This record gives sequence, structure tokens and C-alpha cells, in this order.
Amino acid sequence: MTFPKLQLALDHTEMEAALSLAKILSPHVDIIEAGTLLCLAQGKQALIQLSKICTQDQILVADFKVADAAENLAKMAFNSGANWMTVMCAAPLETMVKALEIANYYDAKTKTSTHDIQIELFGNWTLKDAKEWHKLGLHQVIFHRGRDAQASGLKWKKQDLDTLKALSDIGFNISVTGGISLDDLPIFKEIAVDIFIVGRSFSESENSVQKCTQFKAALSSIWSK
Ligand code: 5RP
Repeated sequence: MTFPKLQLALDHTEMEAALSLAKILSPHVDIIEAGTLLCLAQGKQALIQLSKICTQDQILVADFKVADAAENLAKMAFNSGANWMTVMCAAPLETMVKALEIANYYDAKTKTSTHDIQIELFGNWTLKDAKEWHKLGLHQVIFHRGRDAQASGLKWKKQDLDTLKALSDIGFNISVTGGISLDDLPIFKEIAVDIFIVGRSFSESENSVQKCTQFKAALSSIWSK
């Protein structure tokens, strides 16, 4: 099993704070995300500025959590330098199809395979829905323990691992997020996690480079066993 990639989630509301952490951690992560909070506070400028920090082979994610108007929002995200954009699992299928169509259009336009859509799994959805998304050509999901649910005490549980295995069996590349700490990583060791998305564990650390390096070391040690 190849070991999971690491995605830095920037959920700052001030641009300077986000850019400063992105510059420091960029050499240590695979993917950089303009978080929903940053996108709402700073708009598409957040993507434009972050795209200048990303290296050529680093993916930039626009965590727009789209529920409608996918064509406009995907064009906004990709024109501003994003490679991937998030769409909510509650969005209508038409929204997912449109978002994917725009990602494919930008791939063709840039002659790359770097644009994609990630479905954010929050709230009510079923494996039957997931099979349908996969049939439509979507192949990335983000399994999310919401910030509010976590704050009210929600822990990772066996049922989450079963769901992750089922999503992996359908054929999805899986990202896992939601207050991930170093201690959480071994819980997922039997799962083919593609990406761990980490925000506050880095932004609230006194030494974010050291914390990031510890994450990388933990991922390679747990997933290469
Ligand atoms: C919140 C998000 C966050 O970007 C994601 O959960 C990562 O941040 P953290 O590690 O701080 O939870 O999408 O909706």
C-alpha cells in the first residue's frame, strides 16, 4: 500500500496568516487547500495568491463546498488557479455532473490531467448514492468529521472504518479529515487512505514544520508496514 499524501487546509480568515503558513509548510506537503473559511473571508484572491506559492506539481484545492451553480463556481475556482474543487454530497446530480464537466474542460484547455472534483461527505448520504456518483465519473470523496460535530465530542468509530472500506471497494480515492491529530492516524491503518487533510493540528502548533514532519514520518511508517 502506498502511503497517504498530506494536504494542508488553510482555514484562516486573514490572508497574511494563511499565506505565511502556506509558505512555511509548502515544501512539506503534497496538496494545499484554500479552506472554506478562507475562501469566504478573502474570496478568489486567496486562490490567486496561494497558486503563486504552490510548486508546479502541487495541487491547489478550492474548498468551496458547492451545492449549486457549479458551472460559475468551478470556472471561478479554476480560473483563479485551483486544480480541485469540493462539491457537497447533498448537491443534485446535475451539479456534480456540471462541476466535473468544467474540470474536464480545464484539463483539455491546459492539456493536463490536474483538474478534478471532490465530493464532501457530510450529513445524509448512502452507499447507493456513492455508487451513482462513481458511475457519473467522480472518483474522489472526502470523509469528514465536521468541526461542529467534533467540538461536541464526536470520535472516530468502527462504523467510520467500515464505511471507508465500502467507499474504497466502490473505487473511490478517499481523503479523511476533521480535526486529525497524530494520535488519530493509526486508527486508519487498514484503509487505503489517499490523502489526510490537516488544518488546526498545523496552524495551532507552536512548531508547525516539526508537526508536519512528524505527520509525514507517521504516515510512511504506518502505511509501509
Ligand atoms: C472544515 C474543513 C477543514 O478544512 C478540514 O476539516 C481540515 O481542517 P481541521 O484539521 O482543522 O479540521 O473542511 O469544514
